[in-house]
Amino acid sequence: MSRPAVLITRRLPSSVVERLEEQCTVQMHDGPEAMPADELRSRLADAQALMCLLTDRVDGAVLDAGPGLRIVANIAVGYDNIDLAAARARGVVVTNTPDVLTEATADFTWGLILAVTRRISEGERTLRRGEWSGWALDFMLGSDLRGKQLGIIGLGRIGRAVAARAGAFGMRVACATLEPGAGAQGTADAAWTRLALDQLLSTSDVVSIHVPLTPATRHLIDRRAILRMKRRAYLVNTSRGPVVDEAALAWALGEGLIAGAALDVYEQEPRVHPDLLGLENVVLAPHLGSATVETRTAMADLAARNVLAVLSGSAPLTPVAG
Ligand code: DGY
Repeated sequence: MSRPAVLITRRLPSSVVERLEEQCTVQMHDGPEAMPADELRSRLADAQALMCLLTDRVDGAVLDAGPGLRIVANIAVGYDNIDLAAARARGVVVTNTPDVLTEATADFTWGLILAVTRRISEGERTLRRGEWSGWALDFMLGSDLRGKQLGIIGLGRIGRAVAARAGAFGMRVACATLEPGAGAQGTADAAWTRLALDQLLSTSDVVSIHVPLTPATRHLIDRRAILRMKRRAYLVNTSRGPVVDEAALAWALGEGLIAGAALDVYEQEPRVHPDLLGLENVVLAPHLGSATVETRTAMADLAARNVLAVLSGSAPLTPVAG
C-alpha cells in the first residue's frame, strides 16, 4: 500500500519530521519565507495532509488543489487563516494546537505588560542612542501594577492563564467575554469580576485582549472603544492584529489619550502601521507569543499527531469546532 503524502509549508523540528516519515512521504518547503500561494496549490495535488502555519491562507481554491486532502493541521491555536466552511464542505478535517502554547503566550503577555508599564523598550532605545545621562529621581517613570485592575477581554485558555498570573503582581482581575466561540470557554475564577466590555474598558488600568479573530471581533477595539479607556491605561494585544484598529490606536497614543500599548500582532503582518513605528509609548514585538523552543516544538508535534491520527482513520486529537 502506498504511503500517504504530507505537505509541510515551513521547516519543522527534525524530530517531528522523523515521526511523520515513519509512516508517510513528507514534502517540506525549506525556504526562509512562507510558501508562495501558487507553489502551495501545485504541491498539494498528491497530498493527503497539509501542515500549515498562520501565514498560509487555506481557502476553497487551495483545498480544491488537493483533491485527496483529508486533514489540514494548522500549527497555531488561531485558525482564522483557514476557511472552515470550505473545508467542511469538502470533508476535510481541520485541527489546531491549543493548550501546548497557553503558558508561553501568557508569560509573554506579562512580559509585554511589564515592558510597556515600566518603559523597558523605550529605556533601552534611549540608552543605545547614548542619551542616558545617569540615574535621576524623575527619569523615565513608569506605572505600578500593584493595586490596579487588569481587564481581560476573552476568557479562553490564554486569557485565563494571563488572569491567573495577576495575583503575583498584586493586580485584581476584571473580565469580559463576548459571544460563544469568541474566547469564552472555561470558567472564571470566583475572584474575577465579570464586566460588560464598555465597563471593563472604562475601569481597567491594563486591558489585555485574548479573543480569536472572527467577524464579531474585527476592530473590536476601535476609536470608540479606545476613547472609553482611562487616560493612564495601557492596551496589550497578543491575540490577532485585526482585533485592534491600528490607525485609531496610533492616533490615540499620539494624542496621549491612553498611556501606552504593547502589541505582538498586527493587522497586516509583517507590516506595522507606519504611525506606530515612530511612537515611544508603544512596545512592538514581532508575533513572538508562543516563540520558545519547547512550545514551538510541542505545537509542531501536536499537529503531526493530528495528521497521523486522521491518516490512520482515528479521530483527530484537537479538531477545530467549525
Ligand atoms: C497562534 O498559535 O495562533 C499564535 O498566534 C502563534 O503561536
